[in-house]
Amino acid sequence: MRIKEEIKNIKPYFIDEKSVRFKLDANESPYDLPDDIKEEMLSVLKDININRYPDPSCKSLRKLISKMEEVEENQIIFGNGSDELIYLLLMCIREGALVTYPEPGFSMYSLSGKIFGKELIPYKLSEIDFSVDADSFDKVMNREPYLCFIANPNNPTGNCFPDDILIKYLDNENTIFVSDEAYSAFSGHSLVKMVKTHKNLLIMKTLSKIGFASIRLGYLIGNRELIKEIEKVRLPYNINSFSQKIAEFYFKNIDLVNRYVSDIIKERERIYKELKSRGVFTLPSLANFITFKVEKNGFYDYLVNNGVLIKDLFPSFGMKNYYRFTIGKKEENDFFMKLLLKFMEEE
Ligand SMILES: Cc1ncc(COP(=O)(O)O)c(C=O)c1O
Repeated sequence: MRIKEEIKNIKPYFIDEKSVRFKLDANESPYDLPDDIKEEMLSVLKDININRYPDPSCKSLRKLISKMEEVEENQIIFGNGSDELIYLLLMCIREGALVTYPEPGFSMYSLSGKIFGKELIPYKLSEIDFSVDADSFDKVMNREPYLCFIANPNNPTGNCFPDDILIKYLDNENTIFVSDEAYSAFSGHSLVKMVKTHKNLLIMKTLSKIGFASIRLGYLIGNRELIKEIEKVRLPYNINSFSQKIAEFYFKNIDLVNRYVSDIIKERERIYKELKSRGVFTLPSLANFITFKVEKNGFYDYLVNNGVLIKDLFPSFGMKNYYRFTIGKKEENDFFMKLLLKFMEEE
């Protein structure tokens, strides 16, 4: 079989498919939309011509996003989730080009980089608190990478990339910077305003973390010339008609979505305080998850056996005894906390 060596050596992206009572492992929103909104959706979906291709340029959605983000319509490109946008970016740069990203960081940067045969040099976060290590970043930037992923906030550590470290490099001619803002609704921090003045800066967003993970919709915002180039590698009908229509419901129900986001932030702060007060080593988070450490072995299995799925950060990130817990509804969070305390007390 003439499969590329790069592909043969890849460890596939792992998705935990255990069926449990409380699924708190994938940084999804715990809030589904109410039935009356879903009924309205159904009537809109009924009008889709199943025999026709989707709108290739997502015109109505493009209008809504350009208004919300205060950018021109031709500064936006849509992807089947941010995952696809990461692919598109990697397709645009030459074979073997240097790509950098945080470590630990979202695994699709390195996995996709391997698939497309790039040279991968991560910038390592501090071993003590996972903050951005300026020395490690400087070292990689001195090599002028083609593509640099900045996570704002970072998954799985929950912290934002400090603007002052980035700003020094933002006008580098040869580097495209991608501010991955998948979780920015929970941090309130975005670099989108800087796109006007920095032509190599792209902002990557997604509807996945704010309640629309099922429709797979992400978008990039950037300088129109750069966006025009990336558009050339996008498959013509990558956003299906159903996703386009359902995404419009985000804009119709933006107050409700924002209420859910603020409930998640409140819960995140409550759980953070509680974990700290119990002496659990916990990373401060600006996202919709909390990462913490439990030294005693067996915590992941204990939770699964009690109906709760979280992310064990050892297999994917090499972070031994660290776990990432997606903020759920209050009752889910309470249940999780009760189990955690019980586990820590049991000898
Ligand atoms: C930092 C980060 N970027 C991007 C994504 C992918 O999002 P999408 O669902 O839009 O592909 C994730 C998903 O977990 C993420 O953690």
